[in-house]
Amino acid sequence: MKGGNYTSLGTYSGINAGGNVAVAGKMSLGKSIKMYLTIFILTTCIYMALYQYHISREPFAASEVVKHQEKSSSYIASYLWSPISLLMANSSFNTINNSTTTSTTTTTAPTTPTTTTTGTVGSVGQKVGASSTSSIRMVSLAATIPSFKSESRSGSLGGHQKTATMKTSTTTTTTRTTASGLATTKLLATTRTTAKTSAKLSAATTPTASHMENGHKTRPTFVAASLPPPLYIITPTYRRPEQLAELTRLGYTLKHVVNLLWLVIEDANKTNPLVGHTLDRIGVPYEYMVAPMPEKYKQTKKAKPRGVSNRNRGLEYLREHATEGVLYFADDDNTYDISIFEQMRYISKVAMWPVGLVTKTGVSSPIIQAGKLVGYYDGWIGGRKYPVDMAGFAVSVKFLKERPNAQMPFKPGYEEDGFLRSLAPLDDAEIELLADECRDILTWHTQTKKNAPAQALNRTRYKNTNLEHIDRLLVRP
Ligand code: UGA
Ligand code: MN
Repeated sequence: MKGGNYTSLGTYSGINAGGNVAVAGKMSLGKSIKMYLTIFILTTCIYMALYQYHISREPFAASEVVKHQEKSSSYIASYLWSPISLLMANSSFNTINNSTTTSTTTTTAPTTPTTTTTGTVGSVGQKVGASSTSSIRMVSLAATIPSFKSESRSGSLGGHQKTATMKTSTTTTTTRTTASGLATTKLLATTRTTAKTSAKLSAATTPTASHMENGHKTRPTFVAASLPPPLYIITPTYRRPEQLAELTRLGYTLKHVVNLLWLVIEDANKTNPLVGHTLDRIGVPYEYMVAPMPEKYKQTKKAKPRGVSNRNRGLEYLREHATEGVLYFADDDNTYDISIFEQMRYISKVAMWPVGLVTKTGVSSPIIQAGKLVGYYDGWIGGRKYPVDMAGFAVSVKFLKERPNAQMPFKPGYEEDGFLRSLAPLDDAEIELLADECRDILTWHTQTKKNAPAQALNRTRYKNTNLEHIDRLLVRP
């Protein structure tokens, strides 16, 4: 074919292949370039238009139904949870979060919050009630976690359950919350049996005949919303001015992670309604418990085993209530990239990864050579077998349960080491290396500046002002 004949679309490569070279010799160079460009743009446009048309006519291919099969961080997006997406229950965009959305709508119905509030913390109680809408959404999410099925407790302090059958009985100083495991079971039953739910679910999780018939494609990819293995996040906390700020920051990080139960365990003799209120408002499924540090450690002038009784209480809870998934100790003041949660879900025994901002070395990390764990990098080794930070490892629930005596020692500086040793036998080769084989930093041991306790409010001067309310929200020793 000779240059100049551009009638056929198929000549694109032919033109470039030299047919036009002869013509170019007779034309000015500028004109020739202009012509090439015009032809190139035109043909590209036509191809694009044709391709778009082709795509819009193509029904779902079965292979596009992806189950959670990978751990890559790009996949996290499909698990991202946001209240906005939940509110958009009927929008096609939201079908990605379909199971969440559907169970939300159905489980809200049986919820009958009963809030009894008296005395000075009345406003807190009311706010708990008012904030229940957001929590209920997460309740329904928790209700779909398989391991909650067998729970039937009474008298335990329940977070996610609490929002379901909320009964807040208030004394003059404390708001006590009781919940029954029954509520969860009921929620579960509702989620599972409602015809509407299952119909909606199946419509959302499988490409149905109507999808095929209409030939419409409402979004580029489709992700089936079966839940990934559950995560149990054990967070020790204690009373101090920064407490609610720390929990708020961590809580909203955890809110981006599905199928997660947050075990918030306070080093105290009784729960604090302000903490309960904060957890309710965040809306992550939680259990709020107490586990005071034994008196003998509290009295000591030496370093205290901080958060140990709390973490051991968390382990006890898991031995009783959990069957699968993964546990992670997340101190309330640290910083976490949510991709680490998606990576730790799938581990079989123990996993480790680097933690930033630890000691003079700036990071604490396993040392990897040729894909193998060969040692540990940490500013303080201290004769430890596992010189790692609390934020740098996770353990599978099944593995924990195979080690009935595993727990954390009340030994300052040796908490991590003692706990990991108590998981023996554990081969180094069995330790999974996350965060890009320990080449990335996804958790940081951050510390918040300590604040002096707030001074007392001048109640005479600020009588009948908002400050009377705010003052009740401050955590004082
Ligand atoms: C470091 C480690 O990361 C902790 O896991 C370890 O328990 C602690 O050292 C230790 O060796 O004692 P660090 O940042 O120094 O942590 O300690 P904190 O953040 O003050 O406490 C760790 C956790 O325990 C926090 O979640 C905190 O809320 C809780 N905690 C602290 C208590 O429950 N009670 C306390 O009296 C102090
Ligand atoms: Mn800390």
